[in-house]
Amino acid sequence: MSKKFDVAVIGAGAAGMMCASVAGQRGKSVVLIDHAGKLAEKIRISGGGRCNFTNLHAGPNNFLSDNPHFCKSALSRYTPQDFLSLVKRYKIAFHEKHKGQLFCDNSAEEIINMLKAECEAGKVAWRMPCKVEDVQRAADGEGFVISTGDGEIHAGSVVIATGGLSIPKIGATDFSYRIAKQFDLKLIEPRPALVPLTFDAAAWEPFVPLSGISLEVDIETGEKKNKAQFREDLLFTHRGLSGPAVLQISSFWQPGQAIRVNLLPEIDVAQELIEGKSTIKKNLSNHLSQHLPARLVDGLLQANGFAPDARVADMQDKRLRQLGENLNRWVLVPNGSEGYRKAEVTRGGVDTRALSQQTMMANSVPGLYFIGEAVDVTGWLGGFNFQWAWASGMAAGQAL
Ligand code: FDA
Repeated sequence: MSKKFDVAVIGAGAAGMMCASVAGQRGKSVVLIDHAGKLAEKIRISGGGRCNFTNLHAGPNNFLSDNPHFCKSALSRYTPQDFLSLVKRYKIAFHEKHKGQLFCDNSAEEIINMLKAECEAGKVAWRMPCKVEDVQRAADGEGFVISTGDGEIHAGSVVIATGGLSIPKIGATDFSYRIAKQFDLKLIEPRPALVPLTFDAAAWEPFVPLSGISLEVDIETGEKKNKAQFREDLLFTHRGLSGPAVLQISSFWQPGQAIRVNLLPEIDVAQELIEGKSTIKKNLSNHLSQHLPARLVDGLLQANGFAPDARVADMQDKRLRQLGENLNRWVLVPNGSEGYRKAEVTRGGVDTRALSQQTMMANSVPGLYFIGEAVDVTGWLGGFNFQWAWASGMAAGQAL
């Protein structure tokens, strides 16, 4: 027998639970449907298990989108402080880690339990695990019919909150994109973001022994107006580069483009070496090891054709300038990324020009909403993606 609800939210992740709880607490009858066996796995694994649930400095500039102004409305109406008030109301202990990033002191599980309790306060009905087979407009034009493994559900409105393609192993699917296409909504091509970058295996070979080394760098990609730049930690891996610096820049990087890394942002290496020629008694390796891990210095010197035991005093200025370039402006062209298997988020998604920025409803399909990562709004690393999930979930939840 088919069940009737005012609202069906498909996807019980961050955005879906926020939206369902808000609509439920406003008196709507809401059903929350998810195909996963375990609730909100992405929240559970986020922030190394402690969930970086927001960023105190979150604003529209921390998001990428083909339509950059779209996110302003929802973000301004539900701020990091608003989510923090909820966290405080549930007495969840938290701390600020780095650049406004707020984490749970104990476990991401507390955020899941909080959202679950908010859904219960809104008398949200659950269908989980439950496979969604199809979403169609009802024959009488009144709302939608959702065919599921548990039978048909009728709903006045449907909210698609099934996220992006990142980490298929824990249940990510292209459901939101399929529904968008079905209803003739445009997509901005999805691609992995906040993801480690990889290099041609032969070209990377000299750097493989550096795997595990981490250091703070300046990293950039693009030119002029399109230049993106971050100062964060970089991590050498067996296949390429990772760490917050690389995850951040990966969202801006276009295939074929170079990235530029300054391994010693506070030091002009060429200038220091040339001016110090008469006073630096140490060899190249020992001198540079004052600034960088010794293993990294030797690896980089060898990879760039410098003898670690060369005496600085004996080296030509031209060679020292070249070394300065290698360390202060290392130019690399990734051959790709680790893909959705490792990407924290998906860039692109449902084109926001098709949605209302106030309500997240599709302009051409009354009653159909898209929220969270399914939409072409992608945050930087650091709690911004959850802030978008909360804010877009709230915008739809208040409008339903
Ligand atoms: P989300 O992915 O949370 O939820 C989608 C839900 O839809 C899932 O429950 C899924 O099972 C369900 N679903 C999918 N397809 C379906 C289908 N066909 N039928 C039914 N249900 C379906 N962000 C941040 O701000 N701070 C952080 O610390 C981190 N850390 C982090 C770590 C890792 C390892 C990853 C992979 C990601 C992060 N993120 C993050 C990103 C953040 O987790 C992400 O942006 C949000 O969870 C997106 O919320 P959504 O609700 O849109 O999707």
